[in-house]
Amino acid sequence: MTAQHFLVQGASRGIGLAMVTRLLARADITHVYACSRAPQNSSPLQTLASAHPGRLTLLPLDITLEADIVRAAATVGERHERLHGLINCAGVLHDDALSLQPEKRLEQIDASALDASFRVNTFGPMLLARHFFPLLKHDQPARFATLSARVGSISDNAMGGWYSYRASKAAQNQFTRTFAIEARRRAKQLIILALHPGTTDTALSQPFQKNVPEKKLFTTDFVAESLLNIVFNATTEDSGRFIAWDGQDIPW
Ligand SMILES: NC(=O)c1ccc[n+]([C@@H]2O[C@H](COP(=O)([O-])OP(=O)(O)OC[C@H]3O[C@@H](n4cnc5c(N)ncnc54)[C@H](OP(=O)(O)O)[C@@H]3O)[C@@H](O)[C@H]2O)c1
Repeated sequence: MTAQHFLVQGASRGIGLAMVTRLLARADITHVYACSRAPQNSSPLQTLASAHPGRLTLLPLDITLEADIVRAAATVGERHERLHGLINCAGVLHDDALSLQPEKRLEQIDASALDASFRVNTFGPMLLARHFFPLLKHDQPARFATLSARVGSISDNAMGGWYSYRASKAAQNQFTRTFAIEARRRAKQLIILALHPGTTDTALSQPFQKNVPEKKLFTTDFVAESLLNIVFNATTEDSGRFIAWDGQDIPW
């Protein structure tokens, strides 16, 4: 069996945690790196690490700190020559500590909240790609998938609102598309995808769930399974696509 090493960023909870759980359940995945700002404080991650000794490595990584990303890439590189998948699940929509709330009106735009949003949702995936590219660029199939959101689609925007989240995800999408174009030349086996999970029952969506029809609010396990199916079934022809949980393309 060929070794398959995956890394999940934003693994402490929500969709990222479900991704780690699902990856560990697959016999073809030989090692998983689960990255989070404070993995030592995530009891689900600690439980998984005890259940999968030697197969799961927990790494501290704050996606807003480039030094953390550089350090994590070096740690992975010391252990494994290559990664076969990197899935970025970090994202922020609201955060009291950052005074970040989705804006309903122009007057609610705040420079420091905007900055915080872009640091997590846009600069984060760009810097992950920048520093993990050497581990993803090799002669075996590899995947870089980053969780975006349908509201980041410019052409799909009929409702307005949520300026910082929409703009930071739209910028993430532009990055993903651009990275896929560069990778076509420089890393022919690397498949790059932007993924939309659908509305999922996590802390991120919690304040906005009341108008979501019951069957449209997905569990993290369902979403992780759906998105991993897309990730594993994708070919190099799919690189540069923005795909929803049900396999449908989302217009950029
Ligand atoms: N839930 C939904 O309905 C929905 C819909 C569309 C798109 N999405 C996207 O799906 C992804 C996962 O979301 P989720 O629902 O699983 O959210 P979640 O449960 O709130 O988890 C968010 C993750 O992002 C990381 N993160 C949050 N704030 C951060 C900060 N300030 N600095 C660094 N890292 C930070 C956290 O990492 P730590 O592990 O370090 O805590 C956490 O694991 C996000 O990109 C989100 O935009 C979600």
